[in-house]
Amino acid sequence: EKREAGINRSEIRAFTDFPSKGIVFRDICPILKDPEALAAIIDLFEERVRETCPGVELVVGLDARGFLFGPLLAQRLRVGFVLVRKKGKLPGPTASVAYTLEYGQAEAEIQEDAVEAGQKVVIIDDLLATGGTLYATCELMKKQKAKVLGCLVVIELKDLKGAGPNRTRVRVLPWSSTEGPLAPG
Ligand code: PRP
Repeated sequence: EKREAGINRSEIRAFTDFPSKGIVFRDICPILKDPEALAAIIDLFEERVRETCPGVELVVGLDARGFLFGPLLAQRLRVGFVLVRKKGKLPGPTASVAYTLEYGQAEAEIQEDAVEAGQKVVIIDDLLATGGTLYATCELMKKQKAKVLGCLVVIELKDLKGAGPNRTRVRVLPWSSTEGPLAPG
């Protein structure tokens, strides 16, 4: 039986004080475990990309949970998937951008030949918090002269304003929310 568009908030678990005190960790594992919920999420991503990102040529996924959703979406769109990883994980010539995370410092890295100049990409991750990770990845795409058509997340922590004016390059395609069912917004 096909479910209504979107997934229920109960399908995302919250763990307080993980990985450190004061952080509420949103766990998307229950979505992955439920094939209908996972299909519903990928349906939403596919629908929104087809509507608003015509001509997309690549899906760029963020380390680590962007790797869970990205390839599924890329297959639906019949485009390639590319990894942006935390520094030091990728072989060969790379490009990177440093950023500040909700809990620590990090650097986003890509293989230099992964994206071609002028290619149209969408970026995908599980969650938008401060926006630092997505912002750094947008900067990385700029460095590689790729064109970011949009950023996709399952969950947006709206209170942190990660997609707000201080992160102007992050244009999140909005079906993620801290309220109500996760559905196209
Ligand atoms: C989490 C999350 C996003 C990022 C969001 O990943 O999966 O990638 O933080 O935070 P931001 O909007 O404040 O940048 P994390 O860095 O914990 O890495 P992991 O996926 O390897 O656990």
